[in-house]
Amino acid sequence: MAEWQKSGWRSKPRVQMPDYTDPAALADVEARLSQFPPLVFAGEARRLKDQLGAAARGEAFLLQGGDCAEAFEQFSADAIRDTFKVMLQMAMVLTYGAKVPVVKVGRMAGQFAKPRSAPTETVNGVELPSYRGDIINDLAFSESSRIPDPSKMLQAYTQSAGTLNLLRAFSKGGYADMAKVHSWTLGFTEGEKAARYREMAERISDALDFMKAAGISSDRIETLQTVDFYTSHESLLLEYEEALTRLDSTSGKWLAGSGHMIWIGDRTRQPDGAHVEFASGVLNPVGMKCGPSMTADDLKVLMKRLNPSNEAGKLTLITRFGAGKVSEHLPRLIRAVKEANANVLWVCDPMHGNTIKSESGYKTRPFDAVLREVREFFAVHKAEGTIPGGVHFEMTGQDVTECIGGVQAVTDEDLSDRYHTACDPRLNASQSLELAFLVAEELSALRGCRQAQAV
Ligand code: PEP
Ligand code: CO
Repeated sequence: MAEWQKSGWRSKPRVQMPDYTDPAALADVEARLSQFPPLVFAGEARRLKDQLGAAARGEAFLLQGGDCAEAFEQFSADAIRDTFKVMLQMAMVLTYGAKVPVVKVGRMAGQFAKPRSAPTETVNGVELPSYRGDIINDLAFSESSRIPDPSKMLQAYTQSAGTLNLLRAFSKGGYADMAKVHSWTLGFTEGEKAARYREMAERISDALDFMKAAGISSDRIETLQTVDFYTSHESLLLEYEEALTRLDSTSGKWLAGSGHMIWIGDRTRQPDGAHVEFASGVLNPVGMKCGPSMTADDLKVLMKRLNPSNEAGKLTLITRFGAGKVSEHLPRLIRAVKEANANVLWVCDPMHGNTIKSESGYKTRPFDAVLREVREFFAVHKAEGTIPGGVHFEMTGQDVTECIGGVQAVTDEDLSDRYHTACDPRLNASQSLELAFLVAEELSALRGCRQAQAV
């Protein structure tokens, strides 16, 4: 078999990618990006792979979350900090409630390109090309805004570098110190779950005080003072991905330098297509979205393509069927994995199968449906004896009103108040926290079952 090349995807059928109109401008951007430093280091991607391997064995749990699409206009330190904060809170709820280490991966620092359900959009009888994310074109509804502009890749790189820099500072610079568990709360997350979080934080503080009194203060234990926080995005815009791909001199393998983990979307996972070809050759952990149309045979071919040596932690299957549909689709995929004896991490994305148009015309997601899909995911894995290893959410630390429901009860009429997403509706901080408590309950029930079985 011919050796993998970072440009190999170019000879394969591609979908969901823009047709740039100015080849010289595109080539210039690609040449410049190829000179830039990669955003992540191969050792980090390998470390994440090991941790995802642990999650696949049930020894850790993946929490992956962030915007549906990052936007140039919403780039700010506060927005990054708030999403980071909520993820720390959620991870704490899971670690404390389910007694399991949490692998934290942001949909951040590179999540710019979007697959679309239709190539064009029509408003008041005017038809224009669809918006495909800030790395490609503009959201504004005008002909010039929708022309794909390669120079946007440079801005996406800069924003990703700035985001990652701040995330690294927060993770390692003292902000994520467990002794600060109280300070991660956000002013507006009031209500029952926030109170429950404060109680839990109280108990954690108590435990830390005890350790300190016993001579083990958090400044002596690095794992209490800092966190590992990784980045991920859909590797959709392959010109950008290729330009940031680098040879890792330690292993002689190729690293997608655009983020720690990349994934393939449900619309671009054709076994012979460009996106699978690109992801098949990089050393990073790779995710693949699996929707209702995924067949057992396709899955088997894709697992061979994406993880030929059956490495632990290499391949994450992110299922997104929609509430009420998990028991119809997940068992056949689990069976395919068992038959192939394949190493995979099972993760639930309860967002993308639950998008509806509300009465007021907004694209939204009923929080109830999100919760239901998570519960169904756990139930099917329990019945099949397999491991539910993580969750994948579209969420933000901002106090938005994009998904209906939750303890603070966002209603259809509320959607217009603070609907800021550039693409799909996200959970707000309070809905995210509520979901974390539910997942912690599911996980600890599972743990209880496993322990009972072990005796
Ligand atoms: C996404 O994660 O934003 C997305 C488009 O998902 P999917 O490929 O599962 O539709
Ligand atoms: Co989305």
